Amino acid sequence: MLNIASLPGDGIGPEVCDAAVRVLDALPIDVVVEEHPFGGRAIHEHGDPLPAETLAACRTADAVLLGAAGLPEFDGAPVRPEQGLIRLRGELDVYANLRPARGDGIDLLIVRELVGGLYFGASGRRADGSAYDTCEYTPAEIERIARRGFELARTRRSFVTSVDKANVLETSRLWREVVSGLTGDYPDVRLEHMLVDNAGMQLVLDPAQFDVILTENTFGDILSDVAAGSCGGLGVAASASLGERAPGIFEPVHGSAPDIAGQGTANPTGALRSVALLLRYAAGEHDLADQLEQAVDTALSTTPTRDVGGTATTVEFTDTVLSVGFR
Ligand code: NAI
Ligand code: MG
Repeated sequence: MLNIASLPGDGIGPEVCDAAVRVLDALPIDVVVEEHPFGGRAIHEHGDPLPAETLAACRTADAVLLGAAGLPEFDGAPVRPEQGLIRLRGELDVYANLRPARGDGIDLLIVRELVGGLYFGASGRRADGSAYDTCEYTPAEIERIARRGFELARTRRSFVTSVDKANVLETSRLWREVVSGLTGDYPDVRLEHMLVDNAGMQLVLDPAQFDVILTENTFGDILSDVAAGSCGGLGVAASASLGERAPGIFEPVHGSAPDIAGQGTANPTGALRSVALLLRYAAGEHDLADQLEQAVDTALSTTPTRDVGGTATTVEFTDTVLSVGFR
């Protein structure tokens, strides 16, 4: 029995989560999905983007399926939907964010550190009107994500590109030291270092050169959107966020897309590929994950949604995925 906590959240989050749940229900395994309030809707109902009962349900689930958090009405508000997402990642200590990008000769995996660095450091405003965010990393935080990167590379083409800004940032120099210091444990994996500005350009010009890109939180956030842009856009990009033990968080890379929310036209590919990652990493169902990924590829070519050049609705796209059937 696979227990999944579903946090649809805001905007197109519920639309793509509906598609994900339809697919989960069609699988030949026992799955129980329970929905919980999260994001802007939870602020309205409970005053908190991550209510205590939602967090408690996530902790006891085998996996968390998440839609998106964010509504324009909360821009600049003291309590914002996205804070629930950042807090959930920290609470579950899902330090490894896996973001695969595939397409036209491209098959890369971004392994991004998710619970440290700039997004988790001290930040604030000072009396003089200035603002600050701080970036810090401990050797242990770098080591555990780097080991994940090397181990994942072994299941692929055994090539790690570690991305940093070691020519400017002290945290990046520590990052490079720690990553380099681990090569003795992974002699079969080729390691290369690349500066983040160059990595951005290389992802646009020649993304096929990469296998695993290992990087810190902020750089990984930005580079994974660049990689998604080279592989069909935000609507098709998926992610898995994993800690040492369950539950992991499985979510599309895109946000709540307020510009298209409520129209039924959202591309569910990112969410469905996230379900495939869930099957792979939370349930060990590699065969079902392969079948789902193939069914999604089929739907992308026969029943594309508007963002990828077609006219299909979210429901029509999902119908095509389901029509393939799962064994
Ligand atoms: P976004 O990803 O929501 O949308 C960017 C553009 O891509 C929009 O034009 C949108 O229509 C399109 N798009 C995204 N997903 C799509 C899909 N599945 N199908 C078709 N088109 C799709 O990013 P944006 O506009 O920067 O942010 C909107 C809100 O989402 C903000 O409140 C932001 O903070 C939040 N956000 C939340 C994330 C999360 O929950 N993980 C991640 C990124 C943003
Ligand atoms: Mg992002």
